[in-house]
Amino acid sequence: MREIARYTITSALPYANGPVHIGHLAGVYIPADIYARYLRQNGEEVLFIGGSDEHGVPITIKARNENTIPQAIVDRYHEMIKKSFEELGISFDIYSRTSNPTHHKTAADFFTKLYDEGKLIEKTSAQYYDVEANQFLADRYITGMCPFCNNEKAYGDQCEACGTSLSATDLINPVSALSGNMPVMKETKHWYLPLDQYENWLREWILQGHKEWKPNVYGQCKSWIEQGLQPRAVTRDLDWGVKVPLEEAEGKVLYVWFDAPIGYISATKEWAEAHHDDWEKWWKDPNSELVHFIGKDNIVFHCIIFPTMLKAEGSYILPSNVPANEFLNLENDKISTSRNWAVWLHEYLVDFEDKQDVLRYTLTSIAPETKDADFTWADFQSKNNNELLAIFGNFVNRTIVLTHKYFCGIIPTPNAFTEEEKAMLSEIATFPEKMGTLIENYHFREAQSELMNLARIGNKYLTDTEPWKKFEEDPEAVKTILYLSLQICASLSVLCKPFLPFTSDKLQKMLHLNQSQWKNGGTMSLLKTGNRIEAPEYLFEKIDDDTIKTQVDKLQASKNANLLATATVEPAKEDVAYDDFKKMDIRICKVLEAEKIAKTKKLLKLKVDTGIDKREIVSGIAEYYEPENLIGKEVLMLINLEAKEIKGTVSHGMILMAANSNGELSIIQPAKEVKPGSVVN
Ligand code: MF3
Ligand code: ZN
Repeated sequence: MREIARYTITSALPYANGPVHIGHLAGVYIPADIYARYLRQNGEEVLFIGGSDEHGVPITIKARNENTIPQAIVDRYHEMIKKSFEELGISFDIYSRTSNPTHHKTAADFFTKLYDEGKLIEKTSAQYYDVEANQFLADRYITGMCPFCNNEKAYGDQCEACGTSLSATDLINPVSALSGNMPVMKETKHWYLPLDQYENWLREWILQGHKEWKPNVYGQCKSWIEQGLQPRAVTRDLDWGVKVPLEEAEGKVLYVWFDAPIGYISATKEWAEAHHDDWEKWWKDPNSELVHFIGKDNIVFHCIIFPTMLKAEGSYILPSNVPANEFLNLENDKISTSRNWAVWLHEYLVDFEDKQDVLRYTLTSIAPETKDADFTWADFQSKNNNELLAIFGNFVNRTIVLTHKYFCGIIPTPNAFTEEEKAMLSEIATFPEKMGTLIENYHFREAQSELMNLARIGNKYLTDTEPWKKFEEDPEAVKTILYLSLQICASLSVLCKPFLPFTSDKLQKMLHLNQSQWKNGGTMSLLKTGNRIEAPEYLFEKIDDDTIKTQVDKLQASKNANLLATATVEPAKEDVAYDDFKKMDIRICKVLEAEKIAKTKKLLKLKVDTGIDKREIVSGIAEYYEPENLIGKEVLMLINLEAKEIKGTVSHGMILMAANSNGELSIIQPAKEVKPGSVVN
């Protein structure tokens, strides 16, 4: 076995163009924080790194839309994000940012080393260029018609109507967002990381060497590697980012996904400088363990691209694990920044003052570790009232109140333990290792539920032994009960600390306890007989229905605002000649078969009866209709739309649908039953 000397723990650097929401917390920052805190409590050497990702095209777009410069945007959000993480108790050793000079130099030097050693390849290709604005256009700066669903406002990187990822050259009638003109193609030179040359190495390193990675992570890597890897451009024509350190690269910057992960290294340098430490041991000593906490959309960058960069550079260690999580939904709907469908951390911290641990607890209890999960306010309320308050808080409170009542707040001396008590103690002794193993294997959700089980043991012990009924006749028995209960409270204060750091501090203050070594979390020797404890203070308080309703209403309001905002009626189109209209062959058709198209979210393959023939078409309605509910339905269809191949199916025709202001699609059915093939005109 390899000896682990220290842990370098990174958490994905959030883009500094918006605040952090509960999806980020549940997926990345809370698990990373639990892991870092746990290791520290074990006496391990830990560096827990965070920071803002301040480059990339979306930040420049936001700046443009707000008539300001990108630096102003990132300054605003960096401060906001940093402060909200701090308030939630995310225990970063450093929270840095990629617009720092140290980072620019580190990233540029990294590029230079790869360049000098011939590890990059150069390629010239034609890209869209805006003649009037005098610059190349990032894919996001180009809009046009989606070739798959005919949405006229598709972006050059993605069509948001059908969800297909595109490249700008796929768009029909492309338009530059800068000038509104049609862009032209122009040659440009870029540098590429030849991932294809590392394919065999990646296959061996991940597919053979890291079978222990989470199935969702391993599976994604496998599918990427098996599809064959292509060289990836690591530079862009853009003026916001780390300048490419080559004379011939005027006007070019490093691709954001090249510079951002190097941000972890730059942050380590900054931290080391401030702490008179050596940064290199965290990144180059083979006995350092590098762990990346990320969401699932970041897997390819942290498992394939960044490791290839590190490998190509040659002097770095590679991640030993990348415990990526799935996504968190909110009240059964995808979290969306643009629709304001989110619980924002900075707002939570204002609305729920001093309730950081309630959010931490709820999000860990539903962490999307193996599949997408759902946050609801009702569940949040129930986790607080029925678990934190009714079990953990109630046990601690009863113990401390009774100790004051019977023993003036002095820890009593116990008598001999009963057989039941001995059995309970040997069970409690297993908790540090049991929970520790779960945490080391990134099963934070289960580890936390064990914590609650420990509180349950204490709570049940008090309820079963009923010291409040015994004191008169058998005060000696009560001494033992409260002594043990206090020791269990002390254990809880140690073992809850990675999950509920604020509660742990409060509880330790009440117990006059000042140590949190993990391995002592199950011993009954944390507190000394004869020592005093403080007066009781509530660890948790009830959250009432009104408070929850306020939050639910707030979400509903943002839903309504969105409906209104998007409820604009499209302007009228130009008149057409009757003959032109007659060219369209619109018919009533009947759906015979329907199935989802694998690996797409929105597409269904349908077989329809047009009255003339039975044919296949592809339709982008999978999000709104279950295939089985469409079978037998009569729909409106343009049957002479030219045939086109979509995802391996030749689709001939198009189902006509109405979109409501939400973008939700609805099929249109005849008011009376009509035979398939009936003409609509
Ligand atoms: N900013 C990226 C995102 O939010 C994550 C970057 S992680 C880094 O998806 F390592 F590359 F910085
Ligand atoms: Zn589309």
